[in-house]
Amino acid sequence: MPGAATLAGCATIPAASEAPVAPVATARLTGEAQIADLVSRMTLEHKIAQLIQPQINTVTPEEMRQYRWGSYLNGGNGGPYGEEFAPAGEWLRLADEMWNASTAPLPNGEPAIPTIWGTDAVHGHTNVIGATIFPHNIGLGATRDADLVRRIGHATAVEIEVTGIDWNFSPTVAVAQDDRWGRTYESYSEDPRLVATMGAALVEGLQGRKGADDFLGEGRVIATAKHFFGDGGTDQGVDQGDVNGDIDALKSIHAVPYPAAIAAGVETIMASFNSINGKKMHGNEALLTGVLRGEMGFDGLVVGDWNGHGQVAGCTVSNCPQSLMAGLDIYMVPDDAVALHSSLLSQVRDGTIPMARVDEAVTRVLRVKQAAGLLAPNAQKPSERANAGDLTKLGSPEHRAIAREAVAKSQVLLKNDGVLPFAAGTNILVAGQAADSIAQASGGWTLTWQGGRELDNDMFPSATSIFAGIEQAARASGGSATLSEDGSYTVRPDVAVVVFGEEPYAEFAGDRKTLVFPDDEGLDLLRKFESEGVPTVAVFLSGRPLWMNRELNAADAFVASWLPGSEGAGVADVLFDARPATGKLSFSWPATCEGTPLNSAQGALFPFGYGRALSDTAPMGKLDETCAFLGGGAAAEWYGNGRLANGITATAGGTDLPNLRGTGGGVTAIGLDKDRQEDARRIAMAAGSSLALRGEGSGSFRLSYSLEAAPSGPVRATSGTATTDLTTGLTLAAGKGWREMLLTPACLADAGDSLTIRTEAPLTFSLASVERVSLPEGTACSF
Ligand code: BGC
Ligand code: BGC
Repeated sequence: MPGAATLAGCATIPAASEAPVAPVATARLTGEAQIADLVSRMTLEHKIAQLIQPQINTVTPEEMRQYRWGSYLNGGNGGPYGEEFAPAGEWLRLADEMWNASTAPLPNGEPAIPTIWGTDAVHGHTNVIGATIFPHNIGLGATRDADLVRRIGHATAVEIEVTGIDWNFSPTVAVAQDDRWGRTYESYSEDPRLVATMGAALVEGLQGRKGADDFLGEGRVIATAKHFFGDGGTDQGVDQGDVNGDIDALKSIHAVPYPAAIAAGVETIMASFNSINGKKMHGNEALLTGVLRGEMGFDGLVVGDWNGHGQVAGCTVSNCPQSLMAGLDIYMVPDDAVALHSSLLSQVRDGTIPMARVDEAVTRVLRVKQAAGLLAPNAQKPSERANAGDLTKLGSPEHRAIAREAVAKSQVLLKNDGVLPFAAGTNILVAGQAADSIAQASGGWTLTWQGGRELDNDMFPSATSIFAGIEQAARASGGSATLSEDGSYTVRPDVAVVVFGEEPYAEFAGDRKTLVFPDDEGLDLLRKFESEGVPTVAVFLSGRPLWMNRELNAADAFVASWLPGSEGAGVADVLFDARPATGKLSFSWPATCEGTPLNSAQGALFPFGYGRALSDTAPMGKLDETCAFLGGGAAAEWYGNGRLANGITATAGGTDLPNLRGTGGGVTAIGLDKDRQEDARRIAMAAGSSLALRGEGSGSFRLSYSLEAAPSGPVRATSGTATTDLTTGLTLAAGKGWREMLLTPACLADAGDSLTIRTEAPLTFSLASVERVSLPEGTACSF
């Protein structure tokens, strides 16, 4: 590759002022003529590079100059120069370096096409410290305020521009149908029309209105509607899973937001990880091309999701002509760009991929760049563009005011026995570990991919926690607020606010088996105050509705607060009636705990659209607190904490494996540290081997396990006379970390006194526990 040898070992790229920038455009050509001209002058190598998107944890400016990748991204755990928490200026510096590398002149008059940077600013530009953190989409759905969402999009775009980034992978227009799904909070609603309205509004906010002077201009960035399609409809809410059913019925729910986003001018659409009726979307020509291009008339570009092409049957992350042929234009391939480039190159050369398909995809990429002004003679490097480097715009008071308004409008009041609103002069105790945690109020996709309570408030300069917001409001009204995480006090308060809820998660890490909220901290606090005669307000932070009957019974008022973000004062605005409580549920709220999909007509405790005004103090009757999944069923542990229970044996091909450790019959089991030293096992099984656990007991099997790679041949479980195929379930679970497998009579009819796993191809997995549990009748098998 040209220049590679001289660049190797040289860490710095000359600043743009020194580097001669080759304008790709001539004044004479515009529109399609310009694009056709550019495509005609590009080498095949550079065309293919336009279709490949690596991540900044892997790609360097040197590699950019060598390959000329058309775009690149930062993942949720990525930051410039390996610094996840790098200050905004460093993001901009990297953007300039990448721009310079991509536009360095090429020989023979070949045009050097500027690269673009994509990011997940899914609730504000939240990969970057100091940005405004808006409520996650589930909360925005509760506001029903499309104009507000449009303003949020604009504010987010401005903050993205501060860091020199071009492209936002947002909005998520999933129509979540099963609240057990870990991405429910990224969904505006279970209702497709509400999602369509809000998604289109965010597109307009991010990109500007099509035809308007500022479309993709100052304060605007490229938007992405994602993930096409069916992400919110997977079986049992399993992230990246299979969506089953009649295609027209599926379209009538999950495809509805796309025509609205397309009409709003969305430039890009991201393909989804899920499969539909067994076929992965990244290889699904009928849907990716037939429906999206044909029926819906989308003419922008389709970007893949994180190695999503690697999940297509017959593909690997570095070899997958199928996706391009199915209609994908850009492969998101975080770490294997170079290998993918070389396989695509040979596939074009040997005719597997027609040149026309490459040109079509490159044309789509260039159109987006043209629309964003990057192919114009006056195109500027990132730091010279509007808003770039203007740190006063990152988390500006104006943007925070929009976020605070959104927080207030998203609070949904589910119960109020009259304790709200707080009168002037009230003395308030604020309890719960979440009360002063901005990280917990922000949820996933916040500074890191997963987010997390370990990100302390110092990481969120100028942000306001829920407690801090209550304190300001209380003081201003002549009262007081005291933070006491454990709820203890010396002076009896007038009222206690208990802030509690789900700890942050993202994607599959948030998948759940039921809607039981297993953390009792909030419930215990509410009951403690109840027994002390202190009235309570429950503020519940969550990425979805959960079964809350016990907490609703114990509290005098209950607010579904969702994941409000950095402007916690918006919560106090509602509690003190500085702003009216207008939030309405965008998801129906479950009456029971098992978590099978609801719709508002059936099974909901509070239907879609529910939300009280502060003045509505009509009493709420006692709710049923029984839940067959509470406590998870009496469990007999067969294996756990590194030991087999008394009377339980493990064997492989006739060889005894004491404490599930050792080698025999093609199986090797070694100690592995999960939470404690050697509390788990890493088990490697050869093709055709079996591992059997035997002992007393009855009921379903519950396994805590993880496997890195999908099985490459059939895997079955046998108990007594029943056998079930695990291959599909294990394929879904692969690469998603520690998970729980339930083998119930739904798939393993005769749960006998043994469990045998047999694999036809080599299989490696980790195992932390095996239990026998009694679960409610009808509980599905799950992975
Ligand atoms: C997610 C996308 C995201 C991408 C890049 C994927 O895992 O599914 O929503 O845009 O990563 O971070
Ligand atoms: C990245 C995310 C991405 C995820 C996909 C993470 O390491 O940071 O952006 O969505 O992987 O599995």
